[in-house]
Formats: sequence, structure tokens, C-alpha cells
Amino acid sequence: MTKTKVICFANNKGGSGKTTTCSNIGYGLAQLGHKVLLVDGDMQLNLSLSLFPEDAVLAMAQDEKNLYMAMKKQEDLKDYIVHTPYENLDLIPSSTLMSGIEYELFTKWQREFILKKALRSIRESGEYDYILIDAPPTLGGWAINILCASDRLIIPVEASPWGLFGLANMFEFLDEVREMAPELSLLGVVITKVDTRKNYFKQTLETLRQMQEVPVFDTYIRVDSTIEWAQDDSKPVIAYKKSSRSAKEYMKMAEEVEKLWQ
Ligand SMILES: Nc1ncnc2c1ncn2[C@@H]1O[C@H](COP(=O)(O)OP(=O)(O)OP(=O)(O)O)[C@@H](O)[C@H]1O
Ligand SMILES: [Mg+2]
Repeated sequence: MTKTKVICFANNKGGSGKTTTCSNIGYGLAQLGHKVLLVDGDMQLNLSLSLFPEDAVLAMAQDEKNLYMAMKKQEDLKDYIVHTPYENLDLIPSSTLMSGIEYELFTKWQREFILKKALRSIRESGEYDYILIDAPPTLGGWAINILCASDRLIIPVEASPWGLFGLANMFEFLDEVREMAPELSLLGVVITKVDTRKNYFKQTLETLRQMQEVPVFDTYIRVDSTIEWAQDDSKPVIAYKKSSRSAKEYMKMAEEVEKLWQ
């Protein structure tokens, strides 16, 4: 029986590539032969939309079987799993009602650990090699739940001054959460939407490498419009066009994730 590895993708800076990275690393790990469960933790439903067409995602969001309903009722998430069109890749869909999750959590006993408890039986079954959780761009009680349910964190960051500014907040937040979840650690920072012609990318990379305690992925993801076309077609970019630049980069990053944490 395998020990399930739980990784979340978080950064309070919006649009830093969390969802794109989560869906493609999930798809990439599934391609490498691992069984993967994706958890859409954001009311924007973007992770669900990267796997299913809009009408199907809206139907799941309005149904009883989505992450918000499971959290509200404090139910086991094993009954909320949906198979995706892809081999080895399953999903727990989100709901637009996730906007009210902070309110739901507020009155609950041990409210930081509701998601962790809901995932426990899936973890213990060993059915999945990886559970990947996509976080929203906020740092409240729900983000704490996502981090507390995870063993490792990946922070996607854009090569921009405000991207680096947001990262400092993220590290402070991580330190606070680690007081509740001492096992949690940073798997790495990945730089996304890179334009290698711009000097700012080189400066970002240098700044990050100077922070010696911060692991940075060797792989970085360059700007590629194929990502938008893939999202328009409700597919991870690796499934949409395997030969595209970003598909190759995400495949390489999936291999790096696999090697970094065995
Ligand atoms: N490498 C890339 N090249 C071009 N566009 C990209 C790339 N990565 C992401 N994008 C685009 O940038 C936008 C933000 O990406 P994404 O949704 O993955 O970020 P996010 O951090 O999940 O956002 P949010 O904070 O809103 O959840 C999307 O429109 C996506 O299509
Ligand atoms: Mg997102």
C-alpha cells in the first residue's frame, strides 16, 4: 500500500499560476503512472474548469456532492470523488458557495483541521499516490485548512516585483501555520509566466536563490498562449498539446516533483 503524498498549491497573490500548475502537475504525475486526486479548493472553480466543460462544472457546483457541501456537513470526502476523462486522475469539485466557507468554519470545533479530517480515510486507504489541492488567493481560515491538510506546499510565483512582495507574506503565513502543522514543509517555489527576454526574470531568480532556506524548482514555466487555448478547451495543457513548450515544461516539473519527494 502506498503512502499518499498531499501537496497544496498556494499563494495569496492572485493569478500567479496556482491552478494551471496544480492541474498540469496532476496530469503529469498521472502520465507518469501515479494515481492522483485533485481537490478544487477555490470558489472560482478554475481547477474543475481545467478538466471539465463549463456546463458540467456548474452542474457539479450546484449538486450536493462538492467540497463546500462536504465541509459544511463535515462528511468524508471519499463519497465526493468524481472520475475525470483522464486515466489515473480524479477530482473533488468545488462550488461557488465556497465564498461562504469562512463563515461555515467559524463555529466548528477544531476548525483548522476540517479538511484534514475529511481527507483522512482517502489517505489511509492508500488508493492515491498524490492528493493535490488548489488553494484560493486568500490567507484566511480556509487557506489554513488547506495547508494543515497537506504535507508539502508548492508556491507558484510570477517573476514581478509584486510577485516577490507577495511571497514574503506567504512565508510569514507558512511560519504561523507550521505552529499548528509542524510536519508541513515547503517543497519549492516555482517561477511561472516567465518571459526570458526580460531582465526581471533573471533578477527574480537571483533574489530567490539568495534566500538559501528557500528551495526553488529547477524547472520554470515560460509564458505560452497554448495554456489559454487549453483552458478554453477545458483541458490541462499537456492533454491539449503535448508538444507545446509549456506542456514539456510542466512534464519536466512533474518529474522534478516525483524525484524531490520519494
Ligand atoms: N505560463 C503561462 N503562460 C501564459 N498564460 C498563463 C501561464 N500560466 C498561467 N497563465 C494564465 O494566467 C492566468 C492566471 O493563471 P492561474 O489561474 O493558473 O493562476 P492562479 O494563481 O490560480 O489565479 P487565482 O489566484 O485567481 O486562483 C490564467 O488566465 C492563465 O491562463
Ligand atoms: Mg486559481
